[in-house]
Amino acid sequence: FYVDQDASASEKGAYEHYMLKEIDEQPAVMRKLATEYFDENGNIKIEADLLKAIEASDRIYIVAAGTSYHAGLVGHELFEKLAKIPTEVHVSSEFGYNMPLLSEKPFFIYLTQSGETADSRQVLVQTNEMGYPSLTITNVPNSTLSREASYTLLLHAGPEIAVASTKAYTAQIAVEAILAKKLGEERGIEAAKDFDIHLELAKVANAMQTMVDEKHEIEELAEKNLKTTRNAFYIGRSIDYDTAIEAALKLKEVSYVQTEGFASGELKHGTIALIEEGTPVIAIITDEKTAAHTRSNVQEVIARGANVITIVSRSLSNAGDQIVLPDVHPLLTPLVSIVPAQLLAYYTSKQRGYDVDKPRNLAKSVTVE
Ligand code: G6P
Repeated sequence: FYVDQDASASEKGAYEHYMLKEIDEQPAVMRKLATEYFDENGNIKIEADLLKAIEASDRIYIVAAGTSYHAGLVGHELFEKLAKIPTEVHVSSEFGYNMPLLSEKPFFIYLTQSGETADSRQVLVQTNEMGYPSLTITNVPNSTLSREASYTLLLHAGPEIAVASTKAYTAQIAVEAILAKKLGEERGIEAAKDFDIHLELAKVANAMQTMVDEKHEIEELAEKNLKTTRNAFYIGRSIDYDTAIEAALKLKEVSYVQTEGFASGELKHGTIALIEEGTPVIAIITDEKTAAHTRSNVQEVIARGANVITIVSRSLSNAGDQIVLPDVHPLLTPLVSIVPAQLLAYYTSKQRGYDVDKPRNLAKSVTVE
């Protein structure tokens, strides 16, 4: 299960595509993070100066692009719920040219798999000029954004070769969770004290493993529901909405199916007009508070002829659900619910005969603004 950073780890081995290899590596990445960020007593190892710098701030600004931005959306939940620090998430290509009013003592977190994204870097250059402290969370040591930020936390995910990001996304969420837990613990926040993240990440690794072991069932669902469709929708509420947006990006970028992620409550305010006989709608349901509401949105689209796939936590599931996820801590469900969505994207692309690892028009790292 060891994930190595050296070149041999980036060979495909028995895999036909890097994307599937990288999806499969996610349980190992979770275990790797549990060794990198914890000491032998299970205490979190993060440098004290970084924690002090965040604690001295009054607001966290997460700045990122693409899939990393979506990891930031989950980070928003984690920093606010576990550490009770107000947090905003921004797309870097927008933030740099239309900066919102900043709080008095902002702290910037740059999420970037490659550490080289030009849109994110131009914001870091500006916030450095303004004298604000920053952290880069990246997979690449000594990358540009790592060198230029005040602090760095590494993703330890091993090289990610497929253009569509998978294991870097889940590693980003896990690192955000570890940082949020540590900050919350130091600030005496109950939700953080009660959160045994070392144990919870182990549960996540096992749950991810269960999902990758069920890949052939997901391959069949892709064949039946997505192989020939023109469009598709992912829906969810709260933390499942964050996952819906990332799941939609995965499907559209590798399979070219026009896919949107929607807050399921918003469907009835316009988008439901697009649902026709056979339109695939994939509902993500892992949040107890909103599950019943999302279920009723599922009924609304079924009534209009949608072809529904549900991705549901076991404790919230019922007999008709297609993809059932092992239960994990409510704040960590995005780490597990994204795995079947990554697999649906992978198989749809493969079944359509596309270049899964190198989708048209896309680059792994975008170094122009
Ligand atoms: C490109 C990649 C995406 C990635 C985004 C941000 O568009 O194709 O997969 O999410 O850049 O990259 P970063 O390296 O900053 O996370």
